[in-house]
Amino acid sequence: MIYQRKPDWLIAENLVTDERLFLNRRKLISGIGAGAGLALLGNGLDAAPAESRFEPAPAMNVGFADAGRQITDESITSKYNNFYEFGSSKRIAAEAQKLSTDDWVIEIDGLVDKPFQIGIEDLLKRTGVEERIYRHRCVEAWSMVVPWIGFPMSKLVTLAQPQSGAKYIRFETFMDTNVAKEQRAAWYPWPYVEGFTITEATNDLAFMVVGAYGKVLHKQFGAPLRVHMPWKFGFKSIKSIVKVTFTNERPVGFWENLQNKEYGFWANVNPAVDHPRWTQATERPLDSDDRIPTQIFNGYGAQVAHLYDGMGDSLGDRLWR
Ligand code: MTE
Repeated sequence: MIYQRKPDWLIAENLVTDERLFLNRRKLISGIGAGAGLALLGNGLDAAPAESRFEPAPAMNVGFADAGRQITDESITSKYNNFYEFGSSKRIAAEAQKLSTDDWVIEIDGLVDKPFQIGIEDLLKRTGVEERIYRHRCVEAWSMVVPWIGFPMSKLVTLAQPQSGAKYIRFETFMDTNVAKEQRAAWYPWPYVEGFTITEATNDLAFMVVGAYGKVLHKQFGAPLRVHMPWKFGFKSIKSIVKVTFTNERPVGFWENLQNKEYGFWANVNPAVDHPRWTQATERPLDSDDRIPTQIFNGYGAQVAHLYDGMGDSLGDRLWR
């Protein structure tokens, strides 16, 4: 695709603004199974945050209770977001409140025995939820630590029952130019798409996210369902998912489609391979002015390095492409 504008990865970093966020009241959703109870009433940066909390509080997965760095304050992470559907600045939180997440349905299709659709509440009844604290490293070289709530991606794969020929899982974000004005911009290959191998998707680290900081996911975080792959650059962690497709063709992600010399399929965090326009050796935590060294696989190598055995030099370019 020919595009007229480069991705705005280098936008000035205006960290925290005091902009007021719209509140969006959501109806109470009840009847969720034990451990997955949701009291979904508020979904903004709420004056009464208790209304949007998961109740009962999801259990912390003890294997992911300590990310080795302090959790980044919600007041920072919820006002500094990449969600290009709502604009190319970091301050899209207010605009993102236009997205209605009521009655959200996810379509599962492709190489599965029976394609089906499932509402988000039904999905959570099937999967349950837990809390995990993960590091997140953006390709732009900023990073954060977030206590996510969600369920292992492997549970989604099990639910979908892919056929043996399925080698990849492909995720797609909603498409609605009335809600997300930037989707009218023809130089972007909407809708946002991302994909992983089935082996990556069933790794224990791969996580489907429905909440953060004990609460239902803020819209700017990608409500009501997003991905978090902590060993990959943040652009792989697709938001506001409406479709999951199992396929034998390697999916071409949104940014890879736009500029494949800068954004690859694997996109494993790798300090040894610089982005063509900046270093990846260090990163700036959102709550700090200092840069810290970036770790291979964002520090999760013990869990995931084996997935890439035989792909060549473990510090080389092939982990990225
Ligand atoms: N998903 C969609 N649909 N649209 C996007 O623009 N941006 C990605 C990823 N998922 C993006 C997306 C990028 S570049 C990053 S770094 C993370 O979301 C940012 O997540 P955050 O806003 O919760 O920090």
